[in-house]
Amino acid sequence: MGKVKSAIPGLDELIEGGYVENDVILVTGGPGTGKTTFGVQYLYGGVVNFNEPGVLVVMEETPSRLIRDMWRFGWDIEKLVSQKKMKIIYANPFTYTKFVKPLEKSPINTIAARKNIGDIFEQIQLEVEGIRAKRIFIDSITSFKISADKSEVRHKISEFIKNLEYLDCTTLMSSEVQGKPSSFSVEEYLSSGVIRLHVFRAEGNRVKAIEILKMRGVKHDEILHPYEIRDKGIIVYPGETVMNDEMSLFDSVDKR
Ligand SMILES: Nc1ncnc2c1ncn2[C@@H]1O[C@H](COP(=O)(O)OP(=O)(O)OP(=O)(O)O)[C@@H](O)[C@H]1O
Ligand SMILES: [Mg+2]
Repeated sequence: MGKVKSAIPGLDELIEGGYVENDVILVTGGPGTGKTTFGVQYLYGGVVNFNEPGVLVVMEETPSRLIRDMWRFGWDIEKLVSQKKMKIIYANPFTYTKFVKPLEKSPINTIAARKNIGDIFEQIQLEVEGIRAKRIFIDSITSFKISADKSEVRHKISEFIKNLEYLDCTTLMSSEVQGKPSSFSVEEYLSSGVIRLHVFRAEGNRVKAIEILKMRGVKHDEILHPYEIRDKGIIVYPGETVMNDEMSLFDSVDKR
């Protein structure tokens, strides 16, 4: 079974060396837990450390904003795009055309807003072939879920994930935790692996913890481990644990 390195220091130890090749893995978490950083680090590290090109699908914030935010970690995404090591698809399912227009003129070759997930997949396939990508990050699937017809969501996401599995790529997909952390969303059932980013409040401080909820075919770790967002991105501490009797920030929000 081929393994793909996550490019997150400390994480591969928890999942027997990396993600299973060609799988679709979900990274879920509340606001600001580091989902975007997690996925972009996977793509950026893929290019820089393993010479594996990547496709970034931006579905919510604009690519220029994401590129700007990722500069904080010293990641020059535009450089990788100009070297054809990375491709950005702007696939906002909502049509904020006012914000899309300036991007068409930008040096990064973004693709205009698309509503249909089938169209988005076709675009991903095209770009994957174009730069021979091995890694994909989709940020995030939640905006698609909100825009889609409720009765079709499960079927559409299932089809999307199956199509992605047939590409010769390993895919990360982010999704927002909605409602209680104990409730699971459709994409969590349908993905091969689920990684959850938690934020707890402990003695007045915030503690970030990572949990491998599932990883099909992998004897994965089941303990909560601390992680940090630092100047060079996310670091996981596999040798340390976080007590899960501390209160989840999202639990406390629910109770209000
Ligand atoms: N250099 C840094 N050092 C420490 N923390 C940082 C640094 N740069 C950004 N952060 C933190 O990273 C968080 C944002 O990470 P990111 O955008 O990846 O989260 P997200 O889960 O995608 O958020 P959203 O829910 O808004 O999409 C911010 O809350 C910020 O506090
Ligand atoms: Mg984000």
